[in-house]
Amino acid sequence: MTNIDLTKKIDIPEWVNALMKPTKIGSGHMERQWEEIGDEVMEAVKKVLPTGKYTLGPYLKQFEEDFAKFSDSKYAIGISSGTKALHIALEAMGVGPGDEVITVCNTYVATAFAASYCGATPVFVDIDPKTYNLNAELVEKKITSKTKAIIPVHLYGHVVDMDPLMELAKKHDLWVLEDASHAHGAKYKGRRTGSLGHAAAFSFYPSKNMGAYGDGGIITTSDDDLLEKIRMLRYVGQRVKFIHEVVGFQDRLDELQAAMLSVKLRNLDDWNNRRRKIAAIYDKMLADTPLQLPHVADYAHHVYYSYATITPSEEERKNLLLFLADHDIGGFAMYPILVPMQGAYEDLGYKEADFPIGASYATRVLNLPMFETLREDEAVATAEAILAYYDLA
Ligand SMILES: Cc1ncc(COP(=O)(O)O)c(C=O)c1O
Repeated sequence: MTNIDLTKKIDIPEWVNALMKPTKIGSGHMERQWEEIGDEVMEAVKKVLPTGKYTLGPYLKQFEEDFAKFSDSKYAIGISSGTKALHIALEAMGVGPGDEVITVCNTYVATAFAASYCGATPVFVDIDPKTYNLNAELVEKKITSKTKAIIPVHLYGHVVDMDPLMELAKKHDLWVLEDASHAHGAKYKGRRTGSLGHAAAFSFYPSKNMGAYGDGGIITTSDDDLLEKIRMLRYVGQRVKFIHEVVGFQDRLDELQAAMLSVKLRNLDDWNNRRRKIAAIYDKMLADTPLQLPHVADYAHHVYYSYATITPSEEERKNLLLFLADHDIGGFAMYPILVPMQGAYEDLGYKEADFPIGASYATRVLNLPMFETLREDEAVATAEAILAYYDLA
């Protein structure tokens, strides 16, 4: 049972409210995308609706095959959301009560919630100051006899250094589940996300590098056993109709979403390249500002789900965010509160001091407008506004 206390007061910083308004630069991602591919998407919709088959049909099967191929994996299994993809993958790995799952402190809550849904305990590690990601060294210190799995998150579209992590996992006989929700199409040493751990979970939340028209997700794996277990778990625990061998879930990706996502998959590499061009503009124009810019490791093909800078101080983040908002430019702070510091994990007793880098970055991270339909002149105008803020224009 979850105890919910509705009497608790929540203070929302004033700058958070300021960021919720639409801006001339930074809003309109989905509307512009629709202008580009709406006709094709409607063709897909028109094909699916008359068939009368809306779940587990040919469009999902085709999309799963195409997404697996794209992700250098043997299999892909469409799921109702990224959150459920993480949860079902962990369940299939046998994660349960008493187990520990190691993940990173600065991620979306769903990464950790997936472990909690299994009855396991999430164990949080700090981040590498350059890549903003976890690494094998940080993880090794947290391994205990209870550890069952590791969830590396390819944060903002930059891949985790996977080779040392997989070696560590092998040594301790642990599962590795990639959270690739920020990294559709990203590569590690030439290999796609989705193929780097024992399985990977992707979110198709609309604003992602590749998003559904609503919620959606997918799991990739090349492990035959995991494939069978995941298929059972996403569809009420059955391999054969009417035979429910375990308490499974009802979490399939719809035919309609699969057909629409197939249109997007054809565009994904092109869209990621557009994001990379925007990033190159920011990299070049902001190089001499006090902002710490995203580092790209030599093993990484970055796909910039987000362009995350680190400001020199918390005060300066607030001021710069408000300055950008005044210029009709939408900045963002992702993620401003570490997952272990959320009320949901109060009982675990973590302190900010347990995560010196993550906690410091949470107060200073400032994400610039970034999506594939952002125009290059808008990126230039954003960078110019930042240069003006620093009197460097
Ligand atoms: C890192 C990360 N993991 C998991 C999720 C959960 O995905 P969804 O919103 O599709 O449930 C998200 C999505 O927002 C995410 O950013």
